[in-house]
Order: sequence, then C-alpha cells, then structure tokens
Amino acid sequence: MCGIVAVTGYKKALPLLINGLEKLEYRGYDSAGIAIINSEKNSISCNKAEGKLKNLKNNLKDENIPGTVGIGHTRWATHGKPEFKNAHPHIDGSGTIAVVQNGIIENFQDLKNKLEKEGIIFNSDTDTEVIPHLIKRELNTLSKLNLENNGSTLLVAVRNVISDLEGSYALAVLWADAPTSLVVARRQAPLIIGLGEGEFICASDTPAIANFTNIILPMEDEEIALLTPLGIEIYDINNERQYRNPVSLKVSEQIMDKMNFKHYMLKEIYDQPQTAKNWLENYLNQDLEKGKYQINYPFDTKFFESIERIEIIACGTSKHAAMVGSFLLEQFSGIPTNVFYASEFRYSPPPLLPNTLTIGVTQSGETADTIAAIDMEIKRRSSIEDKNFKPNLIAITNRKESSIGRMVSNIIDICAGIEVGVAATKTFFAQLLSFYGLAIKFAEIKGTQSIDEISNLITELIKLPPLIEDLLEQHNKSSEKLAHDFFNIKDVIFLGRGINYPIALEGALKLKEISYIHAAGYPAGEMKHGPIALLDKKVPVISIASPCEVFDKVISNAQEAKARDSYLIGIAPECNGTEIFDYLMKVPSSNEWISPLLNIIPLQLLSYHIAAHRGLDVDQPRNLAKSVTVE
Ligand code: M6R
Repeated sequence: MCGIVAVTGYKKALPLLINGLEKLEYRGYDSAGIAIINSEKNSISCNKAEGKLKNLKNNLKDENIPGTVGIGHTRWATHGKPEFKNAHPHIDGSGTIAVVQNGIIENFQDLKNKLEKEGIIFNSDTDTEVIPHLIKRELNTLSKLNLENNGSTLLVAVRNVISDLEGSYALAVLWADAPTSLVVARRQAPLIIGLGEGEFICASDTPAIANFTNIILPMEDEEIALLTPLGIEIYDINNERQYRNPVSLKVSEQIMDKMNFKHYMLKEIYDQPQTAKNWLENYLNQDLEKGKYQINYPFDTKFFESIERIEIIACGTSKHAAMVGSFLLEQFSGIPTNVFYASEFRYSPPPLLPNTLTIGVTQSGETADTIAAIDMEIKRRSSIEDKNFKPNLIAITNRKESSIGRMVSNIIDICAGIEVGVAATKTFFAQLLSFYGLAIKFAEIKGTQSIDEISNLITELIKLPPLIEDLLEQHNKSSEKLAHDFFNIKDVIFLGRGINYPIALEGALKLKEISYIHAAGYPAGEMKHGPIALLDKKVPVISIASPCEVFDKVISNAQEAKARDSYLIGIAPECNGTEIFDYLMKVPSSNEWISPLLNIIPLQLLSYHIAAHRGLDVDQPRNLAKSVTVE
C-alpha cells in the first residue's frame, strides 16, 4: 500500500524518481507526487497529481527540475480521500521539510490536535502530514543546541519524531537545509536500499531499484538510515550503527515485462506452465539410484516428525491457497489443520496447543495482518517454557527478502517471479504447488499414504506443464467468447466441493476484484440452505464438477440451480452427468487431488476476459493495491 522511492547521488533525481514510481504503481494509484531539492533555488520543488502516475508525468513533461536528491510517492488512500490535497509528499509550514510515507500513524489525531494548538495549519486530511510538522519543530529545538544544519541533525530530528509515532510506517524525508541528505526509516513496512553507480535509491520494493542496480541492502524493522552521495549510515532502534553485507537481487526479481500481452494479468496467467516447471525444477529431486522422486525443501525437515497439527495464516487469494493446502494436509497427510484469516487470528487466536506448525502464506511477504499474526504467534509461543509449545514456522512466499522472509527461517520460495497484476494468478498456482510439496513430505514422514499413492501424486505434478499449456490454448478464445455474452451480468455464483470449494472462492474473488461484478463462492451442498434464494435466469452459476466421491451430488446441486432458471457453466471433464451444463469449460480428466491446479485456469481466463471486455483497468483495479501493508 503506497510506494515510496527516494534518491541521492550525482544523477538527476526526476527521471530516477519517475522510473521508480512506474515500478511501484501496483502498490497504489490514487495519486502520485515527487519532491526534489532544487539545486538552483536551494529549496524544495514539489509536484503532485490526483489519480494515476500518468497525470503526474503529464504535469512534469516539460519540467527539468535541477537537483539530485528527491523523494516520490504513489498512494493508496487510507486517511483522507484520494484527492490532490492528500497526495504526498507533505510539506511543513516553512516549506523546507518534505515527507513521503507508507503506513498508518495510529496516534496522528492526538499529534495533530497538539500541533494545531501550537498554531500549525494543516493542509490535508492525512495521518502523514503530522510528520513534517513534527520534524520541523524538532529541528527548531535542535537548533538551540547549536547543531549544524546537516544530514546528521536531520537524522536526530527524525529519530526523535518517530519515537513518538504509533503504528507502522516507511518514510523518507528531505530537508532543504541539508541538500544532499536523505533520511529514511521503517517500522513494519518495507524499505530496501539499492547501491547504484553514482546514486543510492531507497524504495518500498525491489522493482523500483532493479533498473539501477542489483545490489541491495534490505533495512530491518525499526531501522533508520542517513543517505548521502558519499555513503549510508544505518542505525537500529537503540541508535547502534549497523553494518551488513549487501545482497544481490535475483534476475526474476527484476523482470517486469508485459511482452506482447495486453495486460500483465493475462501474461501472468500464461506464465503458469513455466511456474510449474520452476517449481518442479526447484523442489523435485530424483534419486538416480532408486529412481524415486523426493520433495526437496530448503530446510531441515526433522521437525516434521513432531508435528501433530497445523495452523495456516493468510489473507485473500493466499488464504484460498491455504484452504486447498489444508484439505491436502488433512485428507492426504492426515494432519489436523486449520486455516485462519490473518486479520482475525491476530485478535482472536485459538488456544495454544503443543507440537503445532504455523504456516504463513503471503505472496508479497509484506501483508500487514499476516506479518502481525505470525509475529504474535512467535511471541506467545516463545513465552512458554514447555518446549512442545515452541514456535515451528514455515513461510510460503514469493519474496523471500521480504518482511516474512526475515522473520521466518524456513522459507518455501514459490519462485513465481514478480507478479505485477493486482489480481494474484501465477502466485496462487505456485502457492498451491508448495502445499502439494508439504502434503507429500508429511505423508511420507507420517506414513499416511502408500508409496504408490505418493508417487502417483508426484507423477501427476510432473505432467502439469503441458496440461496447463493445453488448457490455456483451449480456453483463451472460448472464455473471451463467453465473456462477450456475460460481461453485463450483475451476480455470479461459484460452486465447488471438497478440495475445489476454495477454487470456487478464488474464482469468485478473481471475478469481483477485477470486473466489479458481485460474485460469491459456496460449497455446492450449502446452496439449498440460503443462497439458492438468489437464483433466477439473471444469475449464472459456475459449478466445478471434478470427478470425485461426491461428483453425483455436485451434479444434483447444479440441477437444483438449473431448476431455478440459472444458466449453468461447468468446469469439468466431459463425462456422464456433465451434459446438464449449458456450457462446459472442459478440463482434462485427472486425479482428484490435482484437480484444483487445472480448474483454476479457465476461471482465471474467464474473469480476465470479462473485465477486459468491460474495458476496465485489469492490472490496477479500483480501490485495491498489490501488497496491503496497512491493517
Ligand atoms: O501478498 P499476500 O499474498 O499476503 O496478499 C494477500 C491478499 O491481499 C491478496 O491475495 C489479494 O487478495 C489479491 N488481490 C487477490 O488477487
């Protein structure tokens, strides 16, 4: 939520900031702005625009602001409407301090009331605006101590101010009186420093840095840093100077290329055969002597033996992947498993039970609720002496250098490459694969499945890449046609059962988030307990009907919908029973365990084409952002 970028060095700041913001726009697109220390005027030049970055770029197209130090912001509104006055950067009354921020300052109202009593005038409704005013006040106080006007003084002022802030933030600060310096700080919101050639760039995420350098220094929680063209000083919360080695970005973390696709989302749907290949290459090892395949996760799996139950914490699409994972872990591996919304778990966690594995699932690795829930679980388990209650953790993420990557040492990197479309597609697919790996691992260790069952499932996984390619080929055109007939509908119901119930939820989420059509997913057997009242000829029903123990019941549930005049779309292999569907989106006949990985493909394509047909901004749907770093 919100992207920030900041530069200092010897190159012109404006193009660097705009380039960085282009890569961060997925984090929010309610407004954008930049502030640069104008080296000719020795003052801050600030430009902002409501709406997407292109509006700001338009405003700036003939500008040539001289200056090599600047900050930029792309906003996802929290406090204050998405209006010009609330766009960042925010400036203090003297016009010498500029601040961009990503996060939520929870005590901003108290701070604002105090500042207003001191006569400070506010120009926005944001929580952020208190920060430049507080920094200015602090600098006034420090000036009485005869400190020089330089970056070190700004660092002290910012440190004093952030100690009074409650909530989470990543921020970058400019001071016209320290024209080559930049101060950045973070608490529970991401910030990474890139070491370029002739410049340091600090940003919320790696793509904003990757054009300039692949050498980065991730900042740890509660750190503050002073950046000048000559170097970087990082300090922890106790004001201890921190020294650490830079790390290299992987190539996949740097690629943001739409290729010839109209939208990133479509490209990312088409990336999925490669996602499957990557996962198989990374995590499936063949023992050449025994010819047997093994899941090769990059951590000591001994603790699997003691695990008696699993809790999984996630939000949104990641939660749907977790639900499929939970089904596999219970039904295939025999381990009692519960899935929780992170936002609920953090305030009402279940009673602690021994020998529990906690799995956090987050593609971005930055989702505030998931991070807070995992942090809380680590703390409450660590406070108990009984070693059976100690935290056992795994994180499933696409960004191992993210906050969750730094909190949890057992990481399953889903290796899906950067996902730009706000609607998660290939990362969902890769999260699912990660759960198949875990389920296989547990089934082996616990002996809950025969060797044959396990190797059957592995064989099915190996077959995935060409199957997904075929599905894409088969459904891209047909779902475009279907979208033509359905782009004006108001409500859609998705039904699934068992392992495919979460796929119904995910199908509904995909449709609503990018097409703004109301959609709801239900377990097919639940329809008759209420939702069936919604049905009539205007409400199509999409029923996932993979052959399984309850296939006949799924078909009966679909019949019940048809009897209420709903147009019925089936996601199923062509077989006895599927003739009841008005339209069948055929998927290959498969082992039931593997069916979610196939069924999701036509659903993603259908949502994509409906949204594209409606002429909507598929990659940046309204009100959303790719990573939700606020509560
Ligand atoms: O980065 P995360 O996986 O933690 O994100 C969780 C949700 O915000 C995310 O899945 C969201 O629901 C997507 N927009 C779904 O497409």
